[in-house]
Amino acid sequence: MNTRSKITLTGLALLLTSLVSQGAPVAENWENHCAKCHGADGKGQTKIGKKLKVKDYTDATVQAELKDDEMIKATAEGVVDAASGKERMKAFKDELSADEIKELVAYIRKFKG
Ligand code: HEC
Repeated sequence: MNTRSKITLTGLALLLTSLVSQGAPVAENWENHCAKCHGADGKGQTKIGKKLKVKDYTDATVQAELKDDEMIKATAEGVVDAASGKERMKAFKDELSADEIKELVAYIRKFKG
């Protein structure tokens, strides 16, 4: 085996290890847990998304108003309407690891333009 293929194999092994330790891939988590309301494309134009008036994550203004740490907190602990005290989005910390939540926030950032 030449050096080049050894390097390729090492890279592949590292990649597999990181995939296994990561839980579900981020696109799968988005599809399974978030797309129902926020849309596969992040626009929130689903039946429930429209009803709940979720923000359009392809909108640069919306993205600029969001802070990463607030997004992580919202996903982990849920979103409650300040005025009525009603839950708008449930907490995901029991279903998703901290790393999975961080990846989802990075995934949301990519919907912007
Ligand atoms: C039942 C519908 C529903 C599901 C499922 C859902 N959300 Fe939400 N989400 C909402 C609503 C409603 C809001 C509040 C309105 C808004 O900010 O768009 C919200 C707000 C957010 C916010 C913004 C919080 C802020 O700081 O303004 C983030 C980030 C977010 N959701 C991420 C996610 C992620 C990640 C998932 C999947 C793990 C998810 N949501 C699943 C309905 C949902």
